[in-house]
Amino acid sequence: MIKIAPSLLSANFAYLADEIKKVEAAGADLLHLDIMDGHFVPNLTFGPPVIAALRKVTKLPFDVHLMVTNPQELIEPFVQAGADILTVHAETAPHMHRLIQTIKASGVRAAVSLNPATSLTTIEEVLSDLDMVLIMSVNPGFGGQQFIPESINKIKRLRQLIESRNLKIDIEVDGGINKTTARTVVDAGATILVAGSAVYGAPDVTKAIQDLRGLS
Ligand code: DX5
Ligand code: ZN
Repeated sequence: MIKIAPSLLSANFAYLADEIKKVEAAGADLLHLDIMDGHFVPNLTFGPPVIAALRKVTKLPFDVHLMVTNPQELIEPFVQAGADILTVHAETAPHMHRLIQTIKASGVRAAVSLNPATSLTTIEEVLSDLDMVLIMSVNPGFGGQQFIPESINKIKRLRQLIESRNLKIDIEVDGGINKTTARTVVDAGATILVAGSAVYGAPDVTKAIQDLRGLS
């Protein structure tokens, strides 16, 4: 079963608790939280105090996507705040092996994300340590961008690599996911879909989530 992770980035920030309860009631599997530092990406969002406050209003697992230049220093604060999965960007991690071990030692699931221009080879040596790989299908920084079609081939190659090594690793895809692109990335091997505008921009959130799952 495909998992759907609505991205809070497209929610109304004046009503975060309500916006989370809305997607929880609509059948979301995870809540995707985009952390942007204004350095690695040209945008700013929120940090551990906001996540800690939101942890009290929902049971949804927190899928925290760290788009920050210094992930190593931020692992502990985000774990303390209530993250369940921590995703760091390969482009920010010269000591990726150590970073992954730090995340796992803190008791949460570890994932690495790749920008559209970043090769799968950057994670080949650490793949067996990962719980999930996040393939960016837009350049990170903003919601509502257009899906980059070249991502499909990358997802297929990653799926083959995972199968050839007999690993159990989720492939999450983030950026420009809608009813149409959802089908192509699932066919390519994705297991978790992030969707911001396709969920929060929809008039009927329950239907939007079912559409992404391929149930309607
Ligand atoms: C982009 C973020 C995404 C974003 C996706 O940098 O990582 O999670 O919220 O938004 P949509 O689904 O609208 O492309
Ligand atoms: Zn994201």
